[in-house]
Amino acid sequence: MSSKSVIRSQQQHKVFIASSDDTKICVVMVGLPARGKSLIAGKAMRYLGWVGIPARVFNVGGYRRFNTPQPEATFFDPHNEEGERMRRAAAEAAMSDMIQWFNTGKGVVAILDATNSTKERRNWIYEKCHEADIEALFVESICDDEDLIMTNIKEVKTTSPDYKGQDPEVAALDFRNRIRNYEKVYETIDDNEKHYTYVKLINVGSTVIINQIKDYLSSRLVYYIQNLHIKPRSIWLSRHGESEFNLTGRIGGDSNISERGEAYARALPELLRKSGVPDNTKIVIWTSTLRRTIQTARHLKSETGYEKLEWKALDELDSGVCDGLTYEQIAEKYPEDFAARDEDKYNYRYRGGESYRDVVIRLEPIIMELERSENVIIVTHQAVLRCIYAYFMNVPQEQSPWMEVPLHTLIKLTPRAYGTEEQRFKADIPAVSTWRGKGTSAKHQDFPAEKGTETKH
Ligand code: SIN
Repeated sequence: MSSKSVIRSQQQHKVFIASSDDTKICVVMVGLPARGKSLIAGKAMRYLGWVGIPARVFNVGGYRRFNTPQPEATFFDPHNEEGERMRRAAAEAAMSDMIQWFNTGKGVVAILDATNSTKERRNWIYEKCHEADIEALFVESICDDEDLIMTNIKEVKTTSPDYKGQDPEVAALDFRNRIRNYEKVYETIDDNEKHYTYVKLINVGSTVIINQIKDYLSSRLVYYIQNLHIKPRSIWLSRHGESEFNLTGRIGGDSNISERGEAYARALPELLRKSGVPDNTKIVIWTSTLRRTIQTARHLKSETGYEKLEWKALDELDSGVCDGLTYEQIAEKYPEDFAARDEDKYNYRYRGGESYRDVVIRLEPIIMELERSENVIIVTHQAVLRCIYAYFMNVPQEQSPWMEVPLHTLIKLTPRAYGTEEQRFKADIPAVSTWRGKGTSAKHQDFPAEKGTETKH
C-alpha cells in the first residue's frame, strides 16, 4: 500500500459530528453586555474547530470599531440617532460578510456575537438567514447574579479594545452606563418567538430552556454550551514522569516510571503549589488507567488528599501493531506506514490502533466534563495532552500532533474571556528526549536533557 493510500484509508471519518454538505447554522448570541456572550461564542468556535467543523465568529462590536473605536456610553443610548444608525450599519456589515462566508461553501457554523437584544433585530436576522437558507439558532445568556456581572465587567471590559489605555475605574463606570442604555430596550426571547430555535441560559447554565432544536449538529452544540460555566478556575496538565519505555525509546505499553520519573512524581505536589493555587481551592486529579500516570500522581494524591479519578479515555494513543516498538523498528518493519504518518500525522491511524483524530473523538466526553468542572490537574500522555492542549489553545489540527509537550513540566491553563492564559513550570529533573520532528530520523536520542533546561519530546 502506498503512503497516499495509507492516509486515504484514515480519512473516511473526517468529521465526527455529522453535518450534511449544505448545513449552515448561524448561532445568534442574545443578551445584555457582560453576560459572557463573547466567552461562549469564542469557546463554541474553538470546540467546533477542534472536532473538525469550520466555524467563525462575526463580532458586531469589531465591525462598529472600524468607524467608532472608543465610543462613550451615550453612543449606545437608543435615543442617539447617529449611534443607532452606525450600530445598525455594523450589524448589516457583519451579516453580509457572514452570508458571503457561507456562500464560499466552506462555512458550516457562524456565530453572530452581538447583543441582538430587541425582537425587531432578531426578526431581521431570522428573515435574512431564512432567505439565505441558513438555520438560525438563538443563544440568550441571562444573568442577574451581580457578583458574576461585576467580575465580567472588570475582567472583560477593562481589557476590551473599547477601553484600551483608559483608567480601569472610568472604563468600568462607562461600561455600566452602556449596560443601562441597553437595558432601556432589552427584550428577552419570549413566547412570541416560539417559532425560533433557541436556548436560554439563565445564570450561566443553572437553568437552561431549549426550544425547537431540529438537527444533530445543533443539539451537540447546545449540549456543549449548556455545560459551560464562567467561574474562575485553572486546569493543570502534566505528562507522566519519565517511564522505563521512554528510556529505551519504545512507544505505548504500560511500563513503570523510571527513577527520574519517580523524582518528578515526588516533586509534583510542590510544583503545583508553586504554580499558584488559591487558598481553599479544591483540585481534582485525573489520570489515565495506565501505571505511569497513576504512579506520577501518587504523591500528589497522598500529600494533598485531593479526590482522584482514573479515566480510560485518557489512556495514550493506541499504536496497534507498533505498540512496544521504537520508531527505528517501526521505520524498518512498516516503512510505508512510517512515511504516511509523517505525511499526515493527524489522520494516520496505526494498524489495529488509533489516529490523533480518533483520540479527539474519545476525548470529547473528557472535554465536556472539563467544561463542567472547576480546578483539575490532568496527568496523562503525550498524544492525549497534545489534543487537550490544542482544544484550550486553539491549535490547528495539522500542527497539534507535532507540538512539544515536555516531560517533567507542569502547564497551567487559565481560561479568560478572550482566550486562555498559559504558564509553564519546569521541574529541575532531567528526562530523555522522546520528541521526533516531521521528516527527521527515527533514531532514539538516548541522552538525558541537560539539567534544568527544556526537554524535547
Ligand atoms: C458594539 O457595538 O459593541 C456591540 C453592538 C451590539 O451588539 O449591540
